[in-house]
Amino acid sequence: MTSPAIDVTELRKVYKDKVVLNGVNLTVARGTVTALLGPNGAGKTTTIHILSTLIRAESGEAFINGCDVSRDPDGVRAAIGLTGQFSAVDGLLSGEENLLLMARLRHLGAKRSRTRVAELLEQFDLVDAARKPLATYSGGMRRRLDLAMTLVATPSVLFLDEPTSGLDPRSRHTMWDIVRGLVANGTTVLLTTQHLDEADELADRIAVLDGGRIVAEGTPDELKRLAPGGHVRLRFADAPALNAASELLLGSSRDDAALELAVQSDGSVGALRTLLARLDDARIDVDDLSIHTPDLDDVFFALTGRTDSQGTAS
Ligand SMILES: Nc1ncnc2c1ncn2[C@@H]1O[C@H](COP(=O)(O)OP(=O)(O)OP(=O)(O)O)[C@@H](O)[C@H]1O
Ligand SMILES: [Mg+2]
Repeated sequence: MTSPAIDVTELRKVYKDKVVLNGVNLTVARGTVTALLGPNGAGKTTTIHILSTLIRAESGEAFINGCDVSRDPDGVRAAIGLTGQFSAVDGLLSGEENLLLMARLRHLGAKRSRTRVAELLEQFDLVDAARKPLATYSGGMRRRLDLAMTLVATPSVLFLDEPTSGLDPRSRHTMWDIVRGLVANGTTVLLTTQHLDEADELADRIAVLDGGRIVAEGTPDELKRLAPGGHVRLRFADAPALNAASELLLGSSRDDAALELAVQSDGSVGALRTLLARLDDARIDVDDLSIHTPDLDDVFFALTGRTDSQGTAS
């Protein structure tokens, strides 16, 4: 049995007297993408820094590919790549020089370094800009270079802290394609993001961090069912059918013009079965049915209990 790519138990981190992580538990299966969501200051970057051995936790355990982050940091470092929230590349060097520097730091050897850097420049669409100083790069080019730097040594577990912040829609999609390509080749990804559509697009599972703990974890669809506002919309052939259904399903709201009835529901298969069985028993035919699940923004607000602009009370 292989260990999960990331396995975190009761992680605790305190800065002075401020408890940032208060018992975080998280498991990420190999070859999957998990998005870590949470309001500003929730501890997402802190979590990623602990998992990538940059800082130490007060207590708890964390394993990357079975390597303990506190007992075997070298083993962990050999397995991971980290692209940080704030880029840390040298603005005076060219993109190519930055990549070569990273390749040499990773002990790739001169020849292997050259080929790997050429591959990455090609893959990240940076061939034309390769020889230009980084100071002249746009935000999107810098982000791509950041990620290319991380991939010099082909890590098996990749941490991406807000990989697309500040990118335009096209560059975000390019970045998403790159991440999908990596995952298709077996890389495991843990990413943080403030863009809930990004989590929806990329993540197999989402974990929501708030108040020092994971307050919810599941697939994007599972999480959406947690937020209020989910309903099933039923359309009927005629007014008598609508009337009958409206009497049967108390609490539903009707739209007479559209011959539709909105019934509160989490949209799960079980709930749909029960609903349709009730209508069937009453011999009411349904013409059309659609499920409306809340989007991740609804989920985020419902779970973290405040909007981002209100900040974190601490
Ligand atoms: N070196 C430090 N010393 C003291 N407090 C710190 C330090 N680093 C982080 N913190 C605090 O820990 C908390 C979590 O910070 P962290 O950067 O992990 O949050 P985050 O979820 O990544 O937020 P954001 O969405 O803004 O990136 C914040 O309250 C922050 O002020
Ligand atoms: Mg952060």
